[in-house]
Amino acid sequence: MEESKKVLYSAVQPTNNLTIGNYIGAIRNFLALQNDYNCYFAIANMHAITVRQTPAELRQRTLSLLALYLACGLNPEQTAIYVQSHVPAHAELCWVLNTFTYVGEMERMTQFKDKSLRHAENINMGLMDYPVLMAADILLYQTEVVPVGLDQRQHLEIARDIAQRFNNIYSPTFKVPEGLYVKVGAKINDLQDPSKKMSKSAENPNGSVFLSDDKDTVIRKFKRAVTDSGSEIKFDPENKAGVSNLLSIYTAFTGKTVEQAERDFAGIGYGDFKLAVGEAVADKLAPIQKEQAKLLTDKTYLDNVLRSGAERAAKAANKTLSKVYKKIGFYQL
Ligand code: TYM
Repeated sequence: MEESKKVLYSAVQPTNNLTIGNYIGAIRNFLALQNDYNCYFAIANMHAITVRQTPAELRQRTLSLLALYLACGLNPEQTAIYVQSHVPAHAELCWVLNTFTYVGEMERMTQFKDKSLRHAENINMGLMDYPVLMAADILLYQTEVVPVGLDQRQHLEIARDIAQRFNNIYSPTFKVPEGLYVKVGAKINDLQDPSKKMSKSAENPNGSVFLSDDKDTVIRKFKRAVTDSGSEIKFDPENKAGVSNLLSIYTAFTGKTVEQAERDFAGIGYGDFKLAVGEAVADKLAPIQKEQAKLLTDKTYLDNVLRSGAERAAKAANKTLSKVYKKIGFYQL
């Protein structure tokens, strides 16, 4: 990794099955950017436990997400790929940043409010503290750029506020990060209800296409996708939410522009259009799934990637943490 490059940071939670929304809004862009930045990509298992997890599954999904990162093309020689809990500085900085974050700010977070409704039996402190841990993740690395989907924008704004607050009280300590959102696909919506975000934990499983879905399942889900009245295939998110969502997915998976896609589909019916989108997605997913399965058979290799990723991450993270401890007056040996 070249020190002179700007730092880019992002993370994904190893929860449930990842969707094509995670791929389009986040992972795909990690690939596009890994050459230009000094990158850190985490597997956010500490965020994951804010909702109750089955331990064996969490462990398995951690490796599975690592294999997916690699299968998609992230290069562990070039970027640090690691598990969040392997770098204790995340929890340590989170604690400090908690004292620079107001309860009221956290209560206003949309995702906290949503998740509190969905997990009313377990509104734990971690669920509320989630954005502060995310701020710690980002700020530890002197990150300048954070590629995420639009659902994370509010959390990123808070990370910026916390960084600025700390910098103002002491002296410049943290870089103030910028969110990076793709132009098309920063919010992929549910295939059954295009007014809602496609989510790993959707109530209707036909609304989410998982990265682990086989070809038949992918095609079936796209065939059933809700479109709109009318017959034109045009990108118009306000009036044609369903069709526009399908066009976003199609362009992300084929690399075509929206204009090209609209041209390709001129005069074609919704049924054939949905099938074409399904096929583009399935064709792209198949080799990724194959490579992911192959990587999962080599646990030694995967462990080595995580070990070296954590080492690299810890080195950078501890530098920032030690600066912070000094500024706030922690006695250091
Ligand atoms: P997570 O695991 O929910 O999602 C991972 C990434 O996928 C994006 N995403 C979407 N993009 C477009 N359309 C969708 N339907 C869609 N659904 C999800 C998310 O925006 C995200 O970029 N809190 C984060 C993980 C995290 C993190 C961080 C991210 C922890 N620490 C530090 C950046 C920096 C999360 O839960 O993502």
